[in-house]
Amino acid sequence: MHSVRLLHFSSSIMHILSKLYIPSEDEETEEVRKKARETSKRIVPAGELDAYHRVMKRSLQEPEVFWAEVASEISWSKPWDKVLDNSKEPFSQWFCGGELNVCYNAVDRHVLAGRGDKVALIHDSPVTNSLRHVTYRELQQQVSLLAGALLNLDVIKGDRVLIYMPMIPEAIFAMLASARIGAIHSVVFGGFAARELCARLEHCRPKVVILANCGVEPTRVVPYRAILHQALAMCRSSILEPPPGEGITCLLYQRPGIFCPTTPTALLPPGVRIVAWEAALARACPAPCVPVESSHPLYILYTSGTTAHPKGVLRPSGGHAAVLGWTMRKIYGMKPDDVWWAASDMGWVVGHSYICYAPLINGNTSLMYEGKPDRTPDAGQYFRLIERHRVSALFTAPTALRIIKREDPGVALGKKHDFKSLKYLFVAGEYCDSETRLWAEQAFKVPVLNHWWQTETGHAITATCVGFGHSLKPPEFSTGLPFPGFDVRVLREDGTEANRCELGRIACKLPLPPGVMSTLYEANGRFKTTYFSKYEGYYDTMDAGYIDNDGYVYVTARDDDIINVAGHRLSTNAIEDVVMTHPCVVDAAVVGVPDATKGHTPLCLYVMAPGNCLGEEDLNTELFQLVREMIGPIASFNKAVAVQAIPRTRSGKIPRNSISQLASSSLKKIPSTVEDPNVYFELATTLQRIGLANNNAKLR
Ligand code: COA
Ligand code: AMP
Repeated sequence: MHSVRLLHFSSSIMHILSKLYIPSEDEETEEVRKKARETSKRIVPAGELDAYHRVMKRSLQEPEVFWAEVASEISWSKPWDKVLDNSKEPFSQWFCGGELNVCYNAVDRHVLAGRGDKVALIHDSPVTNSLRHVTYRELQQQVSLLAGALLNLDVIKGDRVLIYMPMIPEAIFAMLASARIGAIHSVVFGGFAARELCARLEHCRPKVVILANCGVEPTRVVPYRAILHQALAMCRSSILEPPPGEGITCLLYQRPGIFCPTTPTALLPPGVRIVAWEAALARACPAPCVPVESSHPLYILYTSGTTAHPKGVLRPSGGHAAVLGWTMRKIYGMKPDDVWWAASDMGWVVGHSYICYAPLINGNTSLMYEGKPDRTPDAGQYFRLIERHRVSALFTAPTALRIIKREDPGVALGKKHDFKSLKYLFVAGEYCDSETRLWAEQAFKVPVLNHWWQTETGHAITATCVGFGHSLKPPEFSTGLPFPGFDVRVLREDGTEANRCELGRIACKLPLPPGVMSTLYEANGRFKTTYFSKYEGYYDTMDAGYIDNDGYVYVTARDDDIINVAGHRLSTNAIEDVVMTHPCVVDAAVVGVPDATKGHTPLCLYVMAPGNCLGEEDLNTELFQLVREMIGPIASFNKAVAVQAIPRTRSGKIPRNSISQLASSSLKKIPSTVEDPNVYFELATTLQRIGLANNNAKLR
């Protein structure tokens, strides 16, 4: 039986969160199954899903015919010879022999079709008090000129361009300009510290870094340039000692009207030069789109894995472009004149797929928001934006809704706005509790539709697909139905298929649809072992969950060493590695514990070095600062406690699930595999000092 468990049938978030990782018990599983059966039967009238089931069946039984039809909706400069080459599974290749350019499909195609005056991007930035509209024609001009500037910097097809920018249209220009000339972009999120940026620089070895001088957070200006200098100064000399005549060029965009107070403290290493954006564009000629093979990588996006080293997800151009445009219609129900808003960041997959590529490929207007759900200046911002820009659909993380609810539960600020243009609110990125979903339905007065996806897949694996006529009242707690091409199964530990409503590991039978990752950058071996070795013939999602009698999928928890903090995916191992660099720490374990706003936050247990080290309070302060400096503020690391010993299994592993359960008072049984069960009793007492593990009376 599976180790990760969650019951869904509670209305209070804290109650739900406190039940994360409940060990399996027959009567609980039975209750889950019964409830899921009752709920789904009530909500889904027979026959309603027939059309969807036909589409699903075709996508799985005749994938080549099916995806060829979808792909023919975008422009190819050379048609493919073969739809699918699966001879080297899991390295499946779609649309072999076909050539296209993703930037052409996202920009030029619309201008050539006479839609140049349509607004492609709206940039609404309360933090800089500015509003910009960029039409498709202006987008084409900016992007082709920037692509020309990249060519002048000797960037050619296949070279990497690292993009380190805040939420400004120039970040999208940079992505599209790279795609225009066949360069592979890698966007790095601004909330990471210099060390994380350095790891990405070293791994993808870019020829050009495109950066802005500053980003603006509510409480501070983020000095992108200074952080880049720091990161470059940390990098291994190999990337900074390139062959003669080559080196890293940093193309610097100075944001108008923003004073960036921090001057870089680290000097630029030799071999790195800074070129001003305006000067580079002034010298450039507009560059045409370069056709690339369907399998040519569009981008590398680093994401957390179970080790401290991030994984570089590689996205193939052809399949991705074809499927993304289609998802705008089929999942999100977007019509040509709709304004679409994905409230994420360009540094995450949601930003790549749904602020940049998908809405543009589909010819929509994409809203880009540089601000927070609250504090910029208040919790009425989401409603203001919907009214101001006539937004049809919003996609956000549950954390953002929890923040608005926390600040303005009665929606007093929201009610000042007319947000009737909104038709749907989509949520993803983390578990969405029922209380938040119900509140958001009342507040925004639209269906709140949960869907499930991962950086690896690039778009939803399961969703309420508005375009397929799915019920807008899916069973509570479900993440919707599988999206075409995903043959979603729930497997037991031994690889056999679980029964309906039985919890297990969610896996997708191969081949995966076009557009998901093609491999991990320069890590084919890691790609195979990470995702395809546990269950032969399946993609292992590392998420736990179950499928009900109607085929709805429920994602209950992550089943590996990843935690999800405010929709940000973090590796517990990476945080432990940083904590262990402190000389006063000899052992450490990091687990996720429930947080009423962010879903989870990290909790660190550590063993102090013997002798005259710091007191616990001072050491905690240093550890919080260390993680902030080495991983970044997004880790939200502010819970740590000194313990006598870290629980370990007999094989030396940290039993993270049970520690997490202990902290959230839901551990019923100490795992039989642990070396010394007494450690749990000591731990419970210690955790009570910081307000955790308060109700483990039945612990045995
Ligand atoms: N650059 C620099 N710092 C950043 C940052 C950025 N782009 N984004 C966040 N931070 C900082 C914040 O300022 C904060 O710092 P502080 O500790 O000094 O206050 C810290 O990181 C924690 O940020 P976060 O937990 O993200 O809270 P927030 O209030 O800044 O933002 C949300 C809240 C909901 C807007 C944000 O968490 C979010 O967008 N989450 C969803 C992510 C997503 O789209 N996931 C989908 C899966 S890809
Ligand atoms: P990321 O790659 O950052 O998008 O994170 C992907 C992970 O977020 C998934 O593997 C899940 O653990 C989690 N996740 C995404 N969407 C959902 C959802 N709707 N419900 C529960 N968890 C989700």
